[in-house]
Amino acid sequence: MFSLKSTKDELDRIVELAKRRGFFWPSFSVYGGVSGFYDYGPLGVLLRDNIIKIWKEKILSIGGIFIDTPNISPEEVFQASGHLERFYDLAAVCASCGSKFKVETLLQDNGIDESRYGEFTTAESLNENNIRCPRCGSKFRETTNLSLMFELLSRYGDRGNLYLRPETAQGVFVNFRNLLNFNRDKLPIIAAQLGKGFRNEIAPRQALLRLREFYMGEVEVYLSNDQNFQPESKMKLKLLPRDGVTRFLSPASAVQQKIIRDPNMAYFIEIVYQILLDVGISPERIRFRQHREDELSHYSSDCWDAEVTISGEWVEVVGVADRGTYDLTRHQKYSGFDLTSKDRQGKKFIPRVIEPSFGFDRILLASMISSYSERKKGYKVLSLPKRVSPYSAAILPLLRKDGLREWALNLYSKYKRVDPYATFDESGSIGRRYARQDEIGTPYCVTVDYDTLNNGTVTVRDRDSTKQIRIKSEILLRDGGILTASKEFDFTG
Ligand code: GLY
Repeated sequence: MFSLKSTKDELDRIVELAKRRGFFWPSFSVYGGVSGFYDYGPLGVLLRDNIIKIWKEKILSIGGIFIDTPNISPEEVFQASGHLERFYDLAAVCASCGSKFKVETLLQDNGIDESRYGEFTTAESLNENNIRCPRCGSKFRETTNLSLMFELLSRYGDRGNLYLRPETAQGVFVNFRNLLNFNRDKLPIIAAQLGKGFRNEIAPRQALLRLREFYMGEVEVYLSNDQNFQPESKMKLKLLPRDGVTRFLSPASAVQQKIIRDPNMAYFIEIVYQILLDVGISPERIRFRQHREDELSHYSSDCWDAEVTISGEWVEVVGVADRGTYDLTRHQKYSGFDLTSKDRQGKKFIPRVIEPSFGFDRILLASMISSYSERKKGYKVLSLPKRVSPYSAAILPLLRKDGLREWALNLYSKYKRVDPYATFDESGSIGRRYARQDEIGTPYCVTVDYDTLNNGTVTVRDRDSTKQIRIKSEILLRDGGILTASKEFDFTG
């Protein structure tokens, strides 16, 4: 088997596979498409939900709770949060055709390191460095800030406009008092929300990497004034702090060496890392990079991005931000509502917040890319973790004749009662069907053949080793189906 893991076109290969096999498709393509929107197909929905389940279970396992708030919010929320005033991208406007381009993307496309961003904030600086309009080749007229907020036409009475939320976090902040009551006035609280975020990107592109509507999982951690979280594991992570020197350290050592300044941040970096590994992203593709001063969001004082290499570039998939007391202070000020907690002495304080913010569309893409390889003759395999694969098993009759099809269909209908994540495939040669299942990541193929008719046994083929074993079919029908039964399978023989 040879691996394609760092080739330039790995993104293109996965996008081609995803479209062909029904993971995701560009939206509205019958009308010519709208950039920045993607639909999830049948396999993509299963894959995405399995990834989200792993995230959710991890957050629950550390004591997290979940809430669900509207996608649409009134203007007051984003005035308070600062998004209306400060959530924008710098764009360069072409002097000739008037097209607008995100300055960050222009720098990337011209091979200029992002750390030099500060040098390129004016049209003159772009022009002097021979950066030209990608559409018509002309110079730029000006640079301007373009808001990323989606404003709705409907107004909210006389109290202003309505907006689509650019992050799910604000719904969690405005609920702080409810959450505190729910938690019997105790901190810390790990409050998470899964949902869609909306950003009017200037130039969305690269499939799921830059969308205008995307899945987020945001965790707002309200800290007490006492000790809260400490990193525990010995796993070494690739860390790139602001000094630009990469280190391989456990989060605990990074705190001791003052690379990560706060144990709470280090603890959540560790949790993020475990989730990324669990959803199938290989460790050598992951690093944590600290934001430069000039790229911090308006609400954060420190931020470490979990980045994954995709087609040779580092792409942010999770941000772990120290939002401090910014959001609660602002909402308290703008709403007049008391958003304080009390310490042990009964003194009021506004809790500090750490926020791991997950982008699930990018994580899904990274998990697919990380799991992809090719076998001889170009056979493609997605070695996704078993809990993540869209299907847990495919049930296949060897041939459609001699009662094999009926036997397999009967097994399939019984199997679906213990594990609904199974599929049935009877078209094409058995080799072709194995290849089809490998390509979409199905960990096991169960084949009904002539021996099955005699003794009720079936073959189980393992995706990764391609080896087969023969088992009694009843084993598959126990609770938990094949993923539980497979703990006793031995494919090494
Ligand atoms: N809440 C983090 C973000 O908007 O990226």
